[in-house]
Amino acid sequence: MNKKNMGCDLIIFGAKGDLACRKLLPALYQLEKKNKLYKNTRIIGVGRANWDKTIYSNIVYDSLKKFMNDVIVESTWKNFSSRLYFCNIDVNYINNFKKLKNIILLSKNIIINYLAVPPNMFEKICIGLSSINLNIEPTRIIIEKPLGSSLKTSMEVNDKISKFFKEHQIFRIDHYLGKETIQNLLAFRFYNSLFYYNWNNEFIDHVQITISEKIGVEGRLNYFNKVGQLKDMVQNHLLQILTMITMSLPKDLTSDSIRNEKIKILKSLRPFNTNTIQKNLILGQYTSGKINNINVPSYIDDMNHQISQTKENTETFVSMKIYIDNNQWFGIPFYLRTGKRLPKKCSEIVVFFKHPMTNIFKKNFNTLPKNKLVLSLQPNEGIQIYILNKKPQLTSQYKLDLVCLDFNYSDLYQKTQLSDAYEKLLLESMYGIQSLFVRRDEIELAWEWIDSIFYCLKIKPQNLDLYPAGTWGPERSKTMIVKDGYEWNQ
Ligand code: BG6
Repeated sequence: MNKKNMGCDLIIFGAKGDLACRKLLPALYQLEKKNKLYKNTRIIGVGRANWDKTIYSNIVYDSLKKFMNDVIVESTWKNFSSRLYFCNIDVNYINNFKKLKNIILLSKNIIINYLAVPPNMFEKICIGLSSINLNIEPTRIIIEKPLGSSLKTSMEVNDKISKFFKEHQIFRIDHYLGKETIQNLLAFRFYNSLFYYNWNNEFIDHVQITISEKIGVEGRLNYFNKVGQLKDMVQNHLLQILTMITMSLPKDLTSDSIRNEKIKILKSLRPFNTNTIQKNLILGQYTSGKINNINVPSYIDDMNHQISQTKENTETFVSMKIYIDNNQWFGIPFYLRTGKRLPKKCSEIVVFFKHPMTNIFKKNFNTLPKNKLVLSLQPNEGIQIYILNKKPQLTSQYKLDLVCLDFNYSDLYQKTQLSDAYEKLLLESMYGIQSLFVRRDEIELAWEWIDSIFYCLKIKPQNLDLYPAGTWGPERSKTMIVKDGYEWNQ
């Protein structure tokens, strides 16, 4: 598809919902502010409310005020609000879709349907859209997780959509792929010879990937309690990061070349078995504790206050050691961890390089620290490289320091150049470029691997390891990595 900026009618199903208000509308407003929206582009909210354009504009204004981390500038708002339309549809009634047809009847814009609604509504919406031909190319559709909760259910969701839309019309969002550091991985890895030749099991010792959050499960208890951290964070975000950090050089930068390489990694993931799962997978749940000196309740108390049907063995923390069985990565451990109610919000990839073969500094340093590369995604996006450096001093004695070469996006680039993941993803969907979106086979391979974990857990059930809120997870997560002679990057 060509990177051509052209007018779009972005139809948002679930216009009143959390995703639309918190993420999509602020991102669209920012694109307006940065002059990235084509002049004819329209945003059409769809929902059951009986709103008109004016009421919808007021609602959008209020939600921008509430959720956007920026002031609303009158001139930008004027342009932005002129793009807003509202269509009152109850998706249970196929006839209602005719109202949408009337709005887009004379438009020459590309239609993008954003389903910001739970997946059980996807099919009805697709049927309604096809009744007014809004599934015909070049129309696109954007969907977002949860796309199933196992390989089987994910295939069902994908099957339902693909009855109406072809794969190249479907844009599946994993918002981590819109983060700057993740996008930069291709440039960083494949344009810098310094790293290009060292990116394999000969030079890399091990890799750690962490996504930690201070928050609990907030307003999404009903959803999270059924799902847990493995399905909520590992199946998608962590595996996507893993593929981006380990994939081989794609043939070119087209969406399919990139995704073909990611697929090879997913196919090479070593499945757990009932022996390895006990040693290499730790599932935890937070008990009460303190974060920033504020008392927070346990997961169970959070649950009992807010939902009636509590599934007590939902994990809020996962750490695991995994392997990729291909030539490039054979034998290299990848440690992944993610959890709620940890001491801070932080997402990072840490690559540790092997020691040099010989150590001429043995007199002072029996073992030298390893070179370390930190790719930070959150809270600040940047790259740090830790190298060994001689401390300046008069004598010829060698004293070494591990020093950090630090690059921070926000120091180097203006704020206006840095964008939220949803801004990028929405813009790419308008251009029709799919490389930042997840292909069906990627999702399904990821689910197959996650299913294999649940299969092992069924045969050899594991108790959850408890950890106090505000700590870095269960003790066993620490011992898993310490046993290998490493420690988690703090
Ligand atoms: C979502 C998960 O996909 O990602 C949430 O469902 C999680 O549970 C969120 O809080 C984290 O995203 P980010 O961008 O804030 O790290």
